[in-house]
Amino acid sequence: MGCATIRCHYPQRNPSAASVQRTCEPELMDDCQQALAYGAADFASSDQAFVDRLADFFPGGLGDRLVDLGCGPGNISFRLAERFGSASVLAVDGAGAMLELGRQALAALPAERAGRIWFVQAVLPDPALPGGFSGLLSNSLLHHLHDPQVLWRSLGQLGCPGAAVYIKDLRRPASPEAALALQELHLGQLDGPGAALLRRDYLASLHAAFSVEEVRTQLREAGLVGLQVAELGDRYLEVWGRLAGWSDDQPVQP
Ligand SMILES: C[S@@+](CC[C@H](N)C(=O)[O-])C[C@H]1O[C@@H](n2cnc3c(N)ncnc32)[C@H](O)[C@@H]1O
Repeated sequence: MGCATIRCHYPQRNPSAASVQRTCEPELMDDCQQALAYGAADFASSDQAFVDRLADFFPGGLGDRLVDLGCGPGNISFRLAERFGSASVLAVDGAGAMLELGRQALAALPAERAGRIWFVQAVLPDPALPGGFSGLLSNSLLHHLHDPQVLWRSLGQLGCPGAAVYIKDLRRPASPEAALALQELHLGQLDGPGAALLRRDYLASLHAAFSVEEVRTQLREAGLVGLQVAELGDRYLEVWGRLAGWSDDQPVQP
């Protein structure tokens, strides 16, 4: 996997941070072992839930040019290409270790579907990325970004007028105890070689995540008036809507 050339990152916790303050984690998941543990984990049900949710917000579809930001090993990119049979999917991530896993999996797909998926290594913000995408998707990227405006500005750069947007992420629990409880509830039974690493990363991600109110402020500051945010389940938030220029000019409702 070319691991020798992959940079290592370590969590940078701030021990003096108040319990509910955000603690950033490293942006890129380009540690080899970390990527392997993530790639081997079974996220099938939450990945499928992501793709199924799109029909609630965009029953008419997302158009034919989709981009999956922070795609990791491509779990969701693959499902997007399967669900939307005429769409092409640009899968973007800054971590070479993740993309390598994605490219390996791509080789096992039917040629017709594989031919509609492109993995590109890019660290956001990246002005060199192409624009004009009709659907802007992202799962679990936002909490990695030290500056969340990187994601919101990238939407404007990459999307066509009226582009459909769906972003799902963890939301930050109210206390360290609540974070530990979620870790136990959702990863407590996890077994196997990568389990300890996944549990560590999951807890760090919960602490790095944003609240719904923080995301609402971010969207307002970014001028993304067509996007809404709400809690989803016990640990997620979701952002949906359209960029300016959608001809109906109506808010998108689930
Ligand atoms: C938790 S993973 C999510 C992967 C995938 N979306 C999924 O749902 O399985 C977050 C991904 O975002 C990537 N990432 C973080 N910051 C990034 C940045 N600034 N530019 C590009 N990718 C980034 C990481 O490398 C990692 O692969």
